[in-house]
Amino acid sequence: MDKLKTIFSGVQPSGNLTIGNYIGAISQWSELQAKYRCIFSIVDYHAITVDYEPDDLRRRILEITKIYLASGINPEYSIIFQQSDVSAHTELAWILGSTGAYIADLKKMTQFKDKAGEKQDAVSVGLFTYPVLMAADILLYDTQAVPVGDDQKQHVELARDIAKRFNGQYGDSFVVPEALVPKEGARIMSLTDPTKKMSKSDSNVNSYISLLDNIEVAKKKIMKAVTDSGTDIDYDPVNRPALANLLTIYARLGNREIKRLVKDYKGFGYGDFKKDLAEVVAKFLTAFQEKYNAISDDEAKEVLESGRQKAEALASLKMEKIRQVIGVR
Ligand code: AMP
Ligand code: TRP
Repeated sequence: MDKLKTIFSGVQPSGNLTIGNYIGAISQWSELQAKYRCIFSIVDYHAITVDYEPDDLRRRILEITKIYLASGINPEYSIIFQQSDVSAHTELAWILGSTGAYIADLKKMTQFKDKAGEKQDAVSVGLFTYPVLMAADILLYDTQAVPVGDDQKQHVELARDIAKRFNGQYGDSFVVPEALVPKEGARIMSLTDPTKKMSKSDSNVNSYISLLDNIEVAKKKIMKAVTDSGTDIDYDPVNRPALANLLTIYARLGNREIKRLVKDYKGFGYGDFKKDLAEVVAKFLTAFQEKYNAISDDEAKEVLESGRQKAEALASLKMEKIRQVIGVR
């Protein structure tokens, strides 16, 4: 078994995690842990770059820890830890921000442009340098692969560029990472607007299904989801993006192939399809929430503490080397 490869990923403790987060990112993680050294972080210092409430943040850190555990990430195999617990992340972010990262690169980041919107100059410096902290998260552990949804590919590309530039300047110091994006479901779209990605920060709660949504509420959201014109069930992401999105959700949460679904629903209409999809989502959420609710706060805190120790040990070794190559030691 190839235990050498290191996988790193993380989710911000902001908003309620959606089935988009699960399908695009977290569901891949539990499969990877059997084969690779896996490190999964709750990236809390990324979450303070936009407005937030300290009490919400505190609560969500434990919530995400439990979501990781309920998704099948096993702390015996994988390291689960809180980013702010390992100060090497912010230290390395400073070093990378001063060496391999250029302002011109950061200005190209679409997530920054989207989040800053009209007020490009009136947002925090942290929101702008956010991808540098993300590069530090990844590079600190000699990560080879980063399992994320489609929207994070650009940030991983930047981490690659930063690593290459740093290696060019100081000699081989960092592994150059790659993004690992699922073939199906890398971009789950909003249920109310299939041109937008499903997002936990969307102001319209009907646009997303949270992993912790009440089951009846979640079913209603599926029944209300917009569909395209046409009546039959066919997979055509270009002309019928809303239906293609629902088929993807069905396939991934119901463990079925899209091709198979299209065959099985021949002769059926949107109504029947949505009713069944609502049941698939309900079944998935019920099982997920059962696992989630069985985990206590204390258990989650213990997992984070043990993860902190393991991550800290790896990170401090790496930082000693980096401090040396840049000449502060
Ligand atoms: P975030 O919600 O931005 O913290 O994202 C956490 C992880 O979920 C990242 O790997 C994202 O790429 C992934 N993700 C977020 N939204 C979606 C979505 N709508 N479809 C697929 N993956 C997503
Ligand atoms: N930026 C990522 C997101 O919003 C979260 C993140 C932070 C991350 N650091 C990371 C993901 C390192 C993968 C690896 O989804």
